[in-house]
Amino acid sequence: SDESSVSITVVGASGDLAKKKIFPALFALYYEDCLPKHFSIFGYARSKMTDAELRDMVSKTLTCRIDKRENCSEKMEEFLKRCFYHSGQYDSEEDFAELGKKLKQHEGSKVSNRLFYLSIPPNIFLDVVKCASKSASSVNGWTRVIVEKPFGRDSESSAALTRGLKQYLVEDQIFRIDHYLGKELVENLSVLRFSNLVFEPLWSRQYIRNVQLIFSEDFGTEGRGGYFDSYGIIRDIMQNHLLQILALFAMETPISLEAEDIRNEKVKVLRSMKPLQLEDVVIGQYKGHTKGGTTYPGYTDDKTVPKDSLAPTFAAAALFINNARWDGVPFLMKAGKALHTKRAEIRVQFRHVPGNLYKGCFGTDLDRATNELVIRVQPDEAIYLKINNKIPGLGMRLDRSNLNLHYAARYSKEIPDAYERLLLDAIEGERRLFIRSDELDAAWELFTPLLKELEQKRTAPELYPYGSRGPVGAHYLAAKYNVRWGDLS
Ligand code: BG6
Repeated sequence: SDESSVSITVVGASGDLAKKKIFPALFALYYEDCLPKHFSIFGYARSKMTDAELRDMVSKTLTCRIDKRENCSEKMEEFLKRCFYHSGQYDSEEDFAELGKKLKQHEGSKVSNRLFYLSIPPNIFLDVVKCASKSASSVNGWTRVIVEKPFGRDSESSAALTRGLKQYLVEDQIFRIDHYLGKELVENLSVLRFSNLVFEPLWSRQYIRNVQLIFSEDFGTEGRGGYFDSYGIIRDIMQNHLLQILALFAMETPISLEAEDIRNEKVKVLRSMKPLQLEDVVIGQYKGHTKGGTTYPGYTDDKTVPKDSLAPTFAAAALFINNARWDGVPFLMKAGKALHTKRAEIRVQFRHVPGNLYKGCFGTDLDRATNELVIRVQPDEAIYLKINNKIPGLGMRLDRSNLNLHYAARYSKEIPDAYERLLLDAIEGERRLFIRSDELDAAWELFTPLLKELEQKRTAPELYPYGSRGPVGAHYLAAKYNVRWGDLS
């Protein structure tokens, strides 16, 4: 309202995430008139910088999504005027108290609402939360804190972090980001299921053979090796992004669209799953590869990575949900860096048509002729359903065709970045897309025993060439459950 203000403090303002995602997302929200009337943005970091220098830095990161609009540079100027900088240590209550005073100056007599985005390494989360909550939190409005993974590296360290945060904040103040939940097609998953008649009745073991959650990147960990090496792809992608998609995909119908109702259903799915078994996991690591005269470095060629690192840059896993809906249906996950393509997708393979009259009429084998629903999260967002269709002509031959909802063709509006939606939701206090602490615990419980076993046994990852389709072990794993990866067939 006119009587309240929102101050957004980006802690770690000169970091990569802030520059690449947070400031641009805030500007996009401003541009779309989604920010409250009275808002200011503060960058907070250790280095000395003036407001003008911060504005200069931020301005380089801003783009106009709908670049044909004429008033874009005007909007940028306006936005930059609302950006400020405060330099301080991350563990100094005094420095945060100074920040608090500046925030107050901007807020005047209005109700003060304060959002802190911790865009900093996890080892200083608690210092900042302690200082900010003691010295810079709002006295008459709300105070919220956005944190982003890694939330620990196993059940114990994650629980310790949660306990630490809860010394200073209540659960409702903590907004844990999994940015995949902010992606358009992930959000659409529930719309697809629950607002169409034709999908939900098929959404069970009765009609679905298997579900595949696939994440691949066509670049390695270049420049991020230091961070990546102590986490690996299972913690980086599977335990959060892919598992969150799985939970949304598989949950029962929530009683409403309220955050708690949805999160209750998600956590039930996670708790219905057995922790991952070593024999249901394949790990890989990319090695250097020369192709067309270009040499692509292997993972351990990165100077920030130990030469004998066993960190997986690829993993495939089979998971099962022990409930009436999904009993026996393999949920296969695959995540990898330095593969042949960049893509994130969900593939739903349906069962065979019983007593199929047209068995003999396929050019390919029958196995490939089952229906498959593909939700391509990125890039080039799309939802398509593979159906069998008669090839036009006098004969009776069938082939597979797509019923295709291709976003670029169907919608002219550009798709907002995940961070735009998430920041807006945090400002509005909408918690649906954020991870509740019990979800986080349940997610770690599924992966912690496996992660420990891999480390104790020093399991060597299968090497695969940079730019390839990943280790062949992933095929054997799928084959064990009678599955063929949809992205490779
Ligand atoms: C991050 C991971 O969470 O997600 C990165 O730490 C990964 O390793 C990134 O590259 C992928 O996100 P997006 O939105 O580019 O698919």
